[in-house]
Amino acid sequence: MKVPFIGLKKQHETIKQEILDAVGKVIDDSYFILGEDVKEFENNFSKYCGVNYAVGINSGTDALILAMKSLNIGKGDEVITAPNSFLSTASSIIAIGGKPVFVDVREDMNINPRLIKDAITENTKAIIPVHLTGRSADMKPILEIAKDNNLYVIEDAAQAVGAEYHGKKVGSFGHVNCFSLHPLKILNACGDGGAVTTDNQEIYTKLIQLRNIGLKNRDESELWGYNSRLDTMQAAILNIKMKYLDNWIKKRRGNAKYYNEELENYVKIPAEKPFEKCVYQTYTIQAENRDDLRQYLADNGIDTKIHYPIPIHLQKAAEKLGYKKGSMPMTEHLANSILALPSHQDLDPEDREYVAEKIKEFYDKK
Ligand SMILES: Cc1ncc(COP(=O)(O)O)c(C=O)c1O
Repeated sequence: MKVPFIGLKKQHETIKQEILDAVGKVIDDSYFILGEDVKEFENNFSKYCGVNYAVGINSGTDALILAMKSLNIGKGDEVITAPNSFLSTASSIIAIGGKPVFVDVREDMNINPRLIKDAITENTKAIIPVHLTGRSADMKPILEIAKDNNLYVIEDAAQAVGAEYHGKKVGSFGHVNCFSLHPLKILNACGDGGAVTTDNQEIYTKLIQLRNIGLKNRDESELWGYNSRLDTMQAAILNIKMKYLDNWIKKRRGNAKYYNEELENYVKIPAEKPFEKCVYQTYTIQAENRDDLRQYLADNGIDTKIHYPIPIHLQKAAEKLGYKKGSMPMTEHLANSILALPSHQDLDPEDREYVAEKIKEFYDKK
């Protein structure tokens, strides 16, 4: 039996015709840059997140870059974030001329609010909490610290579309918030895509210009911008997929519930707190003998992933930031024990039963 980690082909089997029709319409209209499909996506997405504005961007990475640009964060500014994220969280800070300052995480894999204060200096401009695996960071204390210290909050919600914290959707807490719509994300384009959300009209207007070469209208510009537009065809596709999003999240949560019940006596499960609604971009366990377990599952045809085996602060690219092995103990501990199991929305019940059975078998044999 084979259980792949990714279920994209299955997802597209069921909605292929709808997508082809939407793409066909864009080609018939031959309106390929911005336009009604992008506007419709932005309306759909802002409503979904419960914010005033959304702006379609070409990727989650550019969403982070433009978010910081829109807040005038730049050369020499420090931005506090978590070291156990996808590289983009930190590389976007470098891209705007800033300095990433890492703060270790808690066992829930998200930034530890208690450690943030000590990382603040006179150069700190913002905090970027990452909602890793589809679980919200602990936003209440983060927002309080930001307010007390006059800092911006930019949510990196790339992995967490639809996740909730105290009944409120992620992407609605920070000054500007960023999403990835990469093919491997829960709401996914058929290529690259991203979005930013905000409640602030001034920031929104700036973001609209920043993503489109700085153009204010067809001929005038008041600031230098980028070509970071969400592609029109991708927007048309995303408008189709948005209709399915809540059902996909429900299925992922169903998989998580199943795994939690089956595995809680064998591994550390990602248990949800009462005020959280996790969307399980990845269902990530913390496991003893992780590498042996992973090999055992691979030998039995089960594909798993580690997000991320090398924390950002220990990457060669980050060498000049001056972190060493041991500087982020929880992040480094997690890197050695986490394992993401197949849990996408198109996973068959027999697949997850097989995964759970093999994990139990591995530990029972020990
Ligand atoms: C936490 C996080 N931030 C940022 C990004 C960057 O998004 P993109 O790949 O769309 O540029 C990703 C994507 O993997 C991510 O997981």
